[in-house]
Amino acid sequence: MAEVTKKPVKIMETVLRDAHQSLIATRMPTEKMLPIIDKMDQVGYHAVECWGGATFDASLRFLHEDPWERLRKLRDGFKNTKLQMLFRGQNILGYRPYADDVVEYFVQKSIANGIDIIRIFDCMNDLRNLQTAVSAANKEKGHAQVALSYTLGDAYTLEYWTTMAKRIEEMGADSICIKDMAGLLLPYKATELVTALKETTDLPIQLHTHYTSGVASMTYLKAVEAGVDIIDCAMSPFALGTSQPATEVMVETFKGTEYDTGFDQNLLAEIADYFRPYKDECLDSGLLNPKNLGVNIKTLLYQVPGGMLSNLTSQLKEQHAEDKYYEVLEEVPRVRKDLGECPLVTPSSQIVGTQAVFNVLMGERYKMVTKETKDVLSGKYGATVKPFDPEVQKKCIGDAEIITCRPADLIENELSTLESEMAQYKEQDEDVLSYALFPQVATDFFKYRDAQKTKVDAKVADTENGAYPV
Ligand code: CO
Repeated sequence: MAEVTKKPVKIMETVLRDAHQSLIATRMPTEKMLPIIDKMDQVGYHAVECWGGATFDASLRFLHEDPWERLRKLRDGFKNTKLQMLFRGQNILGYRPYADDVVEYFVQKSIANGIDIIRIFDCMNDLRNLQTAVSAANKEKGHAQVALSYTLGDAYTLEYWTTMAKRIEEMGADSICIKDMAGLLLPYKATELVTALKETTDLPIQLHTHYTSGVASMTYLKAVEAGVDIIDCAMSPFALGTSQPATEVMVETFKGTEYDTGFDQNLLAEIADYFRPYKDECLDSGLLNPKNLGVNIKTLLYQVPGGMLSNLTSQLKEQHAEDKYYEVLEEVPRVRKDLGECPLVTPSSQIVGTQAVFNVLMGERYKMVTKETKDVLSGKYGATVKPFDPEVQKKCIGDAEIITCRPADLIENELSTLESEMAQYKEQDEDVLSYALFPQVATDFFKYRDAQKTKVDAKVADTENGAYPV
């Protein structure tokens, strides 16, 4: 009998980043992560995704944690496993384009503090918005992965994706990811897509999807059979629903086949046992909404990522207009079309979603236009795959100038200005980057950090004065 060539599928674990971002609004604190990373380090994961995306904002804003400190602690604990982060191209981890010097410095510091692999994407799939980050990662000897935001529409043909893959290879990326944030990639389409990509490029192909629409594990199965190299999975307590397929399930699926991961299910079970009580806690406190755990077929009908659906619900609730939910859902694809049929992923998902809400609530389309919608229509977020609707563009920005160059070419270097603005709070080099991304939130955090220190100092002083028994 001919020996079967083994090509074990690699797994990236998302429980410390995307899984909790998708299910519990990115609220998992560092102290919940640290006790289990020793075990996670023994699994043999391709990488653990643990930083970037919304974790940076959420740490500073809601958890009063220094995200850099989190990264250093994780790096310290993961002795054998590569650490991965998600990076929004020129938007870094924020919601607007930044100058090149900030992007370069952020990449440099991320790698210096422990990141091995940077997954870089752009909400418009405009590769010009990724070049600075990719080159910076190359320079720092990090692994630069370029992620294509997967979406559906007339323009998104197999040829579109393979042409993009070729260009990604040329720009110096080390691997390619298909980033399907809404769970739109269907199993047999995955066969076609992965086959086409494997014929186009020798770069490793990674697939990232969400369980939102209920097809994700079937999609992984077909993608693996078609030769995908790496799949993104989450430990079962934080899997499924708006998160990823479960790690243990995918491992078991490929057992005994040529794709066998070789992972130890007992070890995985111990890790799952650790996270399960925390999941129950999140369910009890309401942080985890059971609705996020089911199949949401609307995501296929409206092509809207799970996170965006919950944002829309809360925006409408604030406006006491919950009855307009379906009208808004139907308006989303129309706005997306007006804006050049862009993918829906941070920040374009928020921009399109908010504009759709305005269009419905005002009773007239584009009567009220957000600054971000105007920025998209004037090219400040980059080029879209299809042209903007000329009438909508005219109504929203009039005769304003339209940018056709790489948007960041028009942004002056901003690091030194930022340094001077926040100098009084600086305790580490990285602080300027926190401030660059979220000036107000970071300032509040710096003040909080100062106050904590004053408390500790006061305690130490008291001890020295003999106020505490020795
Ligand atoms: Co994701």
